[in-house]
Amino acid sequence: MEYKRHLITSALPYANGPVHIGHLAGVYVPSDIYVRYLRQKGEDVKFICGSDEHGVPITIKARKEGITPQDVVDRYHTLNKDSFDRFGISFDIYSRTSSKVHHETASEFFKELYEKGEFVEKTSEQYFDEEAGQFLADRYIKGTCPKCSYEEAYGDQCESCGTSLSPMELINPYSTISGSKPVKKDTTHWYLPLDKYEGHLRKWILEDHKEWKSNVYGQCKSWLDDGLRPRAVTRDLDWGVPVPVEGAEGKVLYVWFDAPIGYISATKELTPDWEKYWKDKETRMIHFIGKDNIVFHCIIFPSMLDKADGYILPENVPANEFLNLEGNKISTSRNWAVWLHEYLDEMPGKEDVLRYTLTANMPEAKDNDFNWADFQARNNNELVAILGNFVNRALVLTHKYYGGVIPEPGDYTDFDKETIAQYEQTKGLVEKALDQFKFREALKEAMSLARLGNKYLADTEPWKVVKTDAERVKTIMYISLQISAALSIVMEPFIPFTAVKLNKMVNAPEIGWDDLGKMDLLKPGHQINKAELLFEKIEDSVVEAQRQKLEDTKKANEAENATVEPAKDEVAFEDFTKMDIRIGTILEAEKVAKTKKLLKLKIDTGIDQRTVVSGIAEYFEPEKIVGKQVSILVNLAPRKIRGIESQGMILMAQDADGSLKFVEPGEATKNGSTVS
Ligand code: MF3
Ligand code: ZN
Repeated sequence: MEYKRHLITSALPYANGPVHIGHLAGVYVPSDIYVRYLRQKGEDVKFICGSDEHGVPITIKARKEGITPQDVVDRYHTLNKDSFDRFGISFDIYSRTSSKVHHETASEFFKELYEKGEFVEKTSEQYFDEEAGQFLADRYIKGTCPKCSYEEAYGDQCESCGTSLSPMELINPYSTISGSKPVKKDTTHWYLPLDKYEGHLRKWILEDHKEWKSNVYGQCKSWLDDGLRPRAVTRDLDWGVPVPVEGAEGKVLYVWFDAPIGYISATKELTPDWEKYWKDKETRMIHFIGKDNIVFHCIIFPSMLDKADGYILPENVPANEFLNLEGNKISTSRNWAVWLHEYLDEMPGKEDVLRYTLTANMPEAKDNDFNWADFQARNNNELVAILGNFVNRALVLTHKYYGGVIPEPGDYTDFDKETIAQYEQTKGLVEKALDQFKFREALKEAMSLARLGNKYLADTEPWKVVKTDAERVKTIMYISLQISAALSIVMEPFIPFTAVKLNKMVNAPEIGWDDLGKMDLLKPGHQINKAELLFEKIEDSVVEAQRQKLEDTKKANEAENATVEPAKDEVAFEDFTKMDIRIGTILEAEKVAKTKKLLKLKIDTGIDQRTVVSGIAEYFEPEKIVGKQVSILVNLAPRKIRGIESQGMILMAQDADGSLKFVEPGEATKNGSTVS
């Protein structure tokens, strides 16, 4: 089937936190590559995204911070919209689901299905928090997972085993608002009878869409084989799109009912022609999502679209798996992530390095890892050493030999012809990979062109040949310049900032995708612009700082989770009073030679000046602690440590991260004062 236009959607991120590299590798980088590719081919394409602003996590966050849900979504909508923009994700619109047009669109969509009798209305018992005076939907309720016994499963999903749940299935449920045990209370809701659509869905997915990625196809098959059940599309909550039915006060649409309708609202906001993109069979709709969104985009939303009037269904749903970070699962609550807005601030001008690394490691078929060592290596060994190096040599030599004017080529040698043959294949290979949503492979093929150019120059050595055969060098440079120009085209979907720079350098704004592989992209006589470096080496210190940041996060998490030591056995009061603890001041401090841990301290105890050997050298620099006041046990029997007599013991507090702190008086205190 030939299509006239494309509607490309990427999952609407929740506006309850910033976007991180997992989101980027899973959804936004692949969709952006794909859209840029289609645009370059001159296709009619609309690229849709926006903030998903409803759902319980947002209201929970608002409650915790003492602000309104609108405050929460305003903050993250702005942050994320801005970050995507700075990162070169080229949405045609970045809308939001708290907008008026969305509320109206979602409301009308519900009404349409309601009036057609597509919903099943059912009154049943649901959990209610009497203290909070509220029904407990989704993340407002937790309990033990009936499948895997994980004790922190949510009312909508167990994050341990991934099973989707309803609150009634939880064992020992409790309210996440008040912690109390909920009671059961009757309430009425509307359900989408997915069980009735099963046969139709089986045919549409399992028979008609065998070409879908195997991770997507497989998950759909397992859902369908398990049997579909009716799914509630309304909730007893006060944040969301109100249910447009009389007597449904205090109820809103389920976030997963309204959010995908957000794609429609955003298209409406973008163009008065929106129906062309949603209701014309000649439109090809593609949803880019992460794997946790598969059921909603392959089963539930298509069912909704199918029951409403005239909508097309997605042609493909290329979901990615998850990206890990330095070997661990990315987690918002544990702050284990590289946040896009922080990356952009900390690494200005390196948008393309991240885009490149995330594409090269894209979790297309299975979960994959991002780590800073790989990031550095990809930059230094690939972007700098291959792409940057090749282009720089080609352009710098052209300036040097010909004042930046493309020379007239002579006859091609066999080696030239081989190189040209490979050059001509790039277009087809990149297209084939992109058409199948194989982004890693597509990038590899595009990068092969840079490798080809790099190798061509290394093998032909024009800088040597120029001394003996100036005519031959013209041909070598001519070929190298065609490859350079082609790189500005083929790299554009992947690393657009670099592509624009390169295109300016070769001074060829008119060339485009269809020209890829042609041998006259830059014609003899054409003047190029100044050569600038496309990439710079990333030093160890830069990635070290990023790793340190993660290390700090890890420590902070450990500290937060560290359990406090249980109390020791009881002692008699007389035993305690035997201890003579005083305030003293450190007069001198030096490391004990040949030890790692020991400091030799001289302390003014008010009674005398004495020597104490203390195992704190790993935590303090000797110079920095001189003058500090400390608590010291002065009547501890002296003992020899490394040949030095230690006359007492300094009291230290050990923090949860293992670090040591002095037990100091809150303000200056006379040496010798007793502590009791
Ligand atoms: N907010 C959802 C998530 O981050 C995705 C919503 S996609 C849409 O998982 F289709 F519902 F819009
Ligand atoms: Zn579970």
